[in-house]
Amino acid sequence: MSVKALVAGNWKMNGLSASLVEFEAMKTAYDDQLASKVDLMICPPATLLSAMAQASDAIAVGAQDCHAKESGAHTGDVSADMIADCGARAVIVGHSERRADHGETSQHVREKAQAAHRVGLTAIVCVGETQQEREGGKAISVVLEQVASSLPGHSKAGNTVVAYEPVWAIGTGLTPTTADVEEMHTAIRTALVERFGEDGNAIRILYGGSVKPANAAELMAVKNVNGALVGGASLKASDFIGIASVYA
Ligand code: PGA
Repeated sequence: MSVKALVAGNWKMNGLSASLVEFEAMKTAYDDQLASKVDLMICPPATLLSAMAQASDAIAVGAQDCHAKESGAHTGDVSADMIADCGARAVIVGHSERRADHGETSQHVREKAQAAHRVGLTAIVCVGETQQEREGGKAISVVLEQVASSLPGHSKAGNTVVAYEPVWAIGTGLTPTTADVEEMHTAIRTALVERFGEDGNAIRILYGGSVKPANAAELMAVKNVNGALVGGASLKASDFIGIASVYA
């Protein structure tokens, strides 16, 4: 099955209104030819979500997290309903920085993904092992357990993307070998098909962790890699479009 690639940028806690010029430059570079090959998305901080979502049709806009509840006494949190209301189409859930900094478990992540699905947002569900887990030979079992417990039972290709991001590769300049990426993505694919049937073949599995223009072609060519989740290199239009252009 051929699955259209997605390159999504995670701006993390970076970006002020002045950064909207980078987004404008991305939109200009994302011509029809590129758009026919690859979907693009930027996930800015919540403060820029509305401005970006209003200014964009071709490049989708997503949030970086949501609360599992619809509304209520949760100071500082943003609900999936609010994200959809500002015109965004997706939300990242379970990023390893949130799992580590905010103690989010896979059960929390599943509830957030459910909240996203409830309001018609795509949930980009992040999974990934630590260095210690990889060195201990547990990478595959840890990630498959995260996939099993973070994805809601009704997940489908139309509302769910899985992002495999080894924790030790995020922001470090390190990447796994292509053989390790292929082994992991194939294991995730097999688990998705076992659980969701044929639709499991269409759920996009992104690779994330130090993706740059210089290594994107090699990583994106790996079997069962259907695009990238990009952190640092998504902040500059030239780098982000450079990565997306491997699909041109
Ligand atoms: P990085 O981040 O590309 O800066 O390594 C990836 C991510 O955390 O999504």
